[in-house]
Amino acid sequence: MTALLEVEDLRVAYGKIEAVKGISFTVDAGQVVTLIGTNGAGKTTTLRTLSGLLKPSGGTIRFEGKDLNKVPAHKVVSLGLAHSPEGRHIFPRMSIEDNLRLGAYLRDDRDGIAKDIQRAYDLFPILGERRRQAAGTLSGGEQQMLAMGRALMSQPKLLMLDEPSMGLSPIMMQKIMATISELKAQGTTILLVEQNAQAALSLADHGYVMEVGKITLTGTGQELLHDESVRKAYLGED
Ligand SMILES: Nc1ncnc2c1ncn2[C@@H]1O[C@H](COP(=O)(O)OP(=O)(O)OP(=O)(O)O)[C@@H](O)[C@H]1O
Ligand SMILES: [Mg+2]
Repeated sequence: MTALLEVEDLRVAYGKIEAVKGISFTVDAGQVVTLIGTNGAGKTTTLRTLSGLLKPSGGTIRFEGKDLNKVPAHKVVSLGLAHSPEGRHIFPRMSIEDNLRLGAYLRDDRDGIAKDIQRAYDLFPILGERRRQAAGTLSGGEQQMLAMGRALMSQPKLLMLDEPSMGLSPIMMQKIMATISELKAQGTTILLVEQNAQAALSLADHGYVMEVGKITLTGTGQELLHDESVRKAYLGED
């Protein structure tokens, strides 16, 4: 079986500074794979490169066997990659429903779009209750839900989530993590970037630890959760 996503020796630089220094990882269809690591490790840079927003300085990215380096950013979504970015980037003055619709901008199947908007409301009822309101009136956690819902509207083969739990209360965070589990159960393949290592590793099939641009450790979610160095560095144990 070939992996859905195959990243090999990926390098990304900002000018002379290399932020991603030759990382390799794979995501198989149906898996939840997490990239964890401290501030500045290069997690967001990696996701932005997968989305085509940054050009790699080296290495290869293959999606369903296809070389993504040759695909322009505006075509990446049409191949089946969706990105819920760090800091959400919803459109605050537009309604919640219009924000969701934007996620489906490449689709023209009206019935399918309506069905998927309903699916987002089923996942996150608060979005349905407030569908006509400006998205900027949502709380931080609710905006995160909207960003996830919007990413799902392109019916992605791979959903990339950049720190969905950032800035959320423990209850909101649990809700987001439960939704990620639910999406996995529905068959969505997810690449999850998180600083909350405990939550991410608990639900991930596989995890990679990133430190200053490199992958330093890899294993199943459970292996990493019980790894002594991970526990010390990321789970606040000594
Ligand atoms: N536009 C940019 N120009 C120059 N350097 C950048 C730029 N964006 C990020 N960097 C640097 O690249 C490195 C990796 O940043 P990145 O945002 O990928 O880290 P991260 O793992 O997502 O961190 P965090 O957990 O804080 O979100 C950092 O040293 C950062 O300062
Ligand atoms: Mg980041």
